[in-house]
Amino acid sequence: MKKLIVGNWKMNPQKSKEAEILYKTIQKNAKDTKGPTIVVCPPFPYLYLGQKFKSKLLFGAQDVATLPSGASTGEVSAMMLSSINVSYVIVGHSERRAFGESNTVINQKILQSLKAKLMPILCIGESIRDSEGHYLSFIKMQLQECLAGVSKAQLSNIAIAYEPVWAIGKDALREATPEEFTETKIFIKKVLADMYDIKTAHNIPIIYGGSVHPNNAKQFLNAFADGLLIGRDSLSPSKFQLILKATQ
Ligand code: PGA
Repeated sequence: MKKLIVGNWKMNPQKSKEAEILYKTIQKNAKDTKGPTIVVCPPFPYLYLGQKFKSKLLFGAQDVATLPSGASTGEVSAMMLSSINVSYVIVGHSERRAFGESNTVINQKILQSLKAKLMPILCIGESIRDSEGHYLSFIKMQLQECLAGVSKAQLSNIAIAYEPVWAIGKDALREATPEEFTETKIFIKKVLADMYDIKTAHNIPIIYGGSVHPNNAKQFLNAFADGLLIGRDSLSPSKFQLILKATQ
C-alpha cells in the first residue's frame, strides 16, 4: 500500500503570500520524494491558489458541508471542492468535534464527500486512554456511527486516521508510542472486519496523527502506519521534508 502523507495546515498561514511560499517549497521538496501520496490540506481560500503549484502534490480540504447545496451560509459543498481538483477531505478532526460536531454530522459529511468522489480521511481517537480499555468502546462507537450507511464498495475510498486527542498539538499530554498505534490499528481493523468483512477491512489505510515529527515518523511507519497526518510540522518545509524522507 502506498503511504499516505497528509499535511494539515489548520488555520495557517495568515497571508496568501506566505501560503504561496509554503507551497513552492513543499512542491520543490516533494519532487525529490518517490513513493508516498502527498496531500496538502490548507484552509479553503488557499486550495485554489495551490493549483498553480500542483504536480506532485494532491489537495485536501479540512472540512466539508453536510448538505449538497443551497441556503447554507458559510458552508462549502463536496461538489465545489471536487470541481477545483481537491481529492481528499479531513472529516471528524478532534478540533472540529470540540466545536460540537457529532458522529451523525461527520457521517453526513462522509456521505456527501463520497458522492462527490472526494476521499474522506476520517479522524477518530479517544481523549483519555484509560487502563480499563473503555477507550476501545469509544473508538468502536465512532467507527460505527461515522460509517453508518457507508457501503462495502464505498469504504474502499476512505482512509482512517487514528489521532489520540491527548497526543495532538503543542499542549499534548504526551506523545503516543508506536506500540499504542499498532494495538489500536489492530482493533480498528477488527471493528471494520466485523462491520464489513476481513478483506474489505484489510484494504483500508489506517494512518497515524498526533505530534508526528521527523524523529518519530519512521517509528510509526515501522509500526505499520499506512501513512501520517501531520499538523505543526507540515508548516515547516524542512521538517515536512524530513518526514517525507522517513517514508523512503
Ligand atoms: P499536530 O496535529 O501534528 O500538530 O499534533 C496533528 C493533527 O491535529 O492532525
